[in-house]
Amino acid sequence: MAEGAPVIRDDKAGQESNVIFDWEVGDAAGTDRAFEQADVISRLKLHYPRSHPSPIECCGSIADFNRATSKLTVYMTTQAPHIIRAAVALVAELPEHMIRIISPDIGGGFGNKVPVYPGYVCSILASILLERPVKWIEDKSGNLISTGFARDIYLDGEMALRRDGKILGVRMRCDSDHGAFFSDAQPSKFKIGLLHSAFASYDIPVAHLTDRGTYSNKAPGGVAYRCSFRVTEAMFFQERMMQAAADDLGMDQAEFRRMNFVRDDQFPHRTPFGFLTDSGQYGKCLDVALKAVDYEGFRREQAEARARGRLLGLGISTMTEPLGAGNSREYDILGIKMFDSADLKVHMTGKAILRTGARTQGQGHETTWAQIVAHELGIPAEDIVVEEGDTDTAPFGMGTYASRSTPVAGAAVAMVSRKIRAKARQLAAHLLEVSEEDIEWELGRFYVRSAPDRGVTIQECAVAAYANMPDGMEPGLDATAYYDPPNLTWPFAVYIVTVEVDPQTGVWDVLTTVAVDDCGVRINPMIVEGQIMGGLTEAYAMANMQFITFDADGNCVGSNYMDYMLPTAWETPGFELHSEVVTPCPHHPIGAKGIGECAAVGGPAAFVNAVMDALSGTGVRNIDMPLLPDRVWEAITYRRDVSGAPPVRSDD
Ligand code: CDP
Repeated sequence: MAEGAPVIRDDKAGQESNVIFDWEVGDAAGTDRAFEQADVISRLKLHYPRSHPSPIECCGSIADFNRATSKLTVYMTTQAPHIIRAAVALVAELPEHMIRIISPDIGGGFGNKVPVYPGYVCSILASILLERPVKWIEDKSGNLISTGFARDIYLDGEMALRRDGKILGVRMRCDSDHGAFFSDAQPSKFKIGLLHSAFASYDIPVAHLTDRGTYSNKAPGGVAYRCSFRVTEAMFFQERMMQAAADDLGMDQAEFRRMNFVRDDQFPHRTPFGFLTDSGQYGKCLDVALKAVDYEGFRREQAEARARGRLLGLGISTMTEPLGAGNSREYDILGIKMFDSADLKVHMTGKAILRTGARTQGQGHETTWAQIVAHELGIPAEDIVVEEGDTDTAPFGMGTYASRSTPVAGAAVAMVSRKIRAKARQLAAHLLEVSEEDIEWELGRFYVRSAPDRGVTIQECAVAAYANMPDGMEPGLDATAYYDPPNLTWPFAVYIVTVEVDPQTGVWDVLTTVAVDDCGVRINPMIVEGQIMGGLTEAYAMANMQFITFDADGNCVGSNYMDYMLPTAWETPGFELHSEVVTPCPHHPIGAKGIGECAAVGGPAAFVNAVMDALSGTGVRNIDMPLLPDRVWEAITYRRDVSGAPPVRSDD
């Protein structure tokens, strides 16, 4: 931000500069001391460019205010229907029971459909005033130029190092561009979201971070695109910094990371910025990944290729992501605490309907939630219908974003199933004419401990709940659970990418991408793999091809998919996924951690590190994303860093 820049939001009372907030976290004095003791100080400046979530379908709403019933029904593309209902109730002063928000299949979310857009508000207001249905639908160009964008942050970092490779401390100075409308719609109490989850993978004694958030004349920024509130920027910075530091020390990239990892026996581990990570086997994940790429073999091949003028590179990235906001002590939206919910009704026939406060947008909750119930109760998954997204029927929940569904709503699904099991046990005791203490459980069946042949199935208990309950028992087999997680879940991953860079053109091709993700217990391995592949595709796109720019007047340049590239199957490289490391989450009822965002969060640095590794020895320290061929060519040809966003392209 230039000194004396015009104040963008002079309409806001008391806004005398473009600074929205100036925030710091960590131990400034302790970090200064660490730097005084350092043998080597490594420095790096980066820009993480704006990116666009690009869901398949854009945003839209149909509001229908019915004068006869005074009820407002809104079909809309939201990832958080209950929060929207609360916001409408507060703003339109309609009672909550007269507002029904329905989020049907919304064509993907990726964070784009968390904010409240003006179009939603206009359609609701117009419907209330006109007393007829009013529709707002965004077109692709509108979505591409004016939606909630993500990232757009400048990162300036320093790492204090001992000669043997031990990291003594880290300093991060950040400048984040929030566009003209600061939407503080993230649930943490921290001004810059979870940016300070950086360096959670490593055992670093002390760190300090400052961030200045500013207004600019761009469309709104700072939305969490497939990311837990600035975690993507945190992990990108972490892993680019790790690569630079290892280079400065002349150390091997893998060994430098390994020696600084949090060890398996150090959990729960306090990160340098104060988070408490839960569990992990970081070294084992790295071993699996190194073996998969044949690390030693690749390094030999790289040296031989280099001797013949070919540029091969290998990039490592690790990530530890805080997934599953809340807990409610520390996370809220509009003062509403971050928990989630599940409601399970088991019918007389033993078939069931499950509703949660989350909202799938293609992540497959219909499958995975049914699997959790099946795992807890033994009711086959095909006998369970999962319904989400209708505030008239679903229990109150905070919606789906930031990979919070499995850590929070998924946990609620397990807990509600256990409530049902507890009641079914009473029914079983009644049917078997023994006391509850004499009953044992195996999946789908209760039996008498002393006579295992005498048993009843969960379905027989369901019939009894309606037709043959003991005296005094409330009929039915329904329950609701609200789950307030004790902590975030902390999945871990190692991504390794190898590339070949053409020095004549700057074009780079991906040779291998290896992903080792540890998201605890996998409910559905195929869905998990789909999530990882999607995330890696987005990571590759951000590293390789995507940028969105604004001219001096704040107009977005590039309103179509010729300018903002989405990789097709043609461009997307192949991925090799590994699932052999499973560290259950100690506080999640079934040991699962989130996965949805991990590869999009940790992936970009692996691609960039690979290209930078191919250029090692040229004196080039950094090329900012996207690594377009002309930027890579410029770096190689002139042996200089290429920083900042690509220049604005416009007709003049
Ligand atoms: O919040 P969101 O659904 O986007 O992300 P998530 O909780 O990470 O889950 C994405 C999908 O992967 C869901 O269908 C999950 O149930 C599934 N998943 C899984 O099968 N096993 C895990 N350990 C984590 C997620």
